[in-house]
Amino acid sequence: MIKKAETKHDVIELIKTRWSPRSFSAKEITKEQILSLFEAASWAASAYNEQPWMFIYATKNESVLYNKILNTLSEWNRNWAKNAPVLILSACKLKFSHTDKENRTAFYDLGQAVNSLSLQAISMDLYIHQMSGFDNK
Ligand SMILES: Cc1cc2nc3c(=O)[nH]c(=O)nc-3n(C[C@H](O)[C@H](O)[C@H](O)COP(=O)(O)O)c2cc1C
Repeated sequence: MIKKAETKHDVIELIKTRWSPRSFSAKEITKEQILSLFEAASWAASAYNEQPWMFIYATKNESVLYNKILNTLSEWNRNWAKNAPVLILSACKLKFSHTDKENRTAFYDLGQAVNSLSLQAISMDLYIHQMSGFDNK
């Protein structure tokens, strides 16, 4: 379903078109499409070019890992996310590689990478729904 934001000022189409659906087509996402998403994420800016982000993903066909990720979600999220063709876990390294000291912007950098991934997805007619409702322990 295409849903466009009615913006007060002119913005690019990708921003207008981005939204977070809770229902998904059963159509499979190809490996090539998934790699394009991570390629986009990898080009995000980051402090000291540390690129602290990490992603773990599983398609519905990779059922063992898919279910492991699914089972980390809160019940509410699990109920709709179980139909998503791909689940992606994002994480980040909290220390700089070159100093082993705290990287204060690691989460910020991760967010930028996810935003790039999300806009790349929209350009490919794929939609992302981010979730913080999961058990990260
Ligand atoms: C960090 C983050 C965590 C979120 N966590 C959840 C979540 O656990 N469950 C959920 O249904 N939506 C979650 N969302 C989606 C937001 O509710 C959604 O982006 C917001 O309502 C705006 O809607 P839109 O993305 O369709 O414009 C999250 C979004 C972000 C960025």
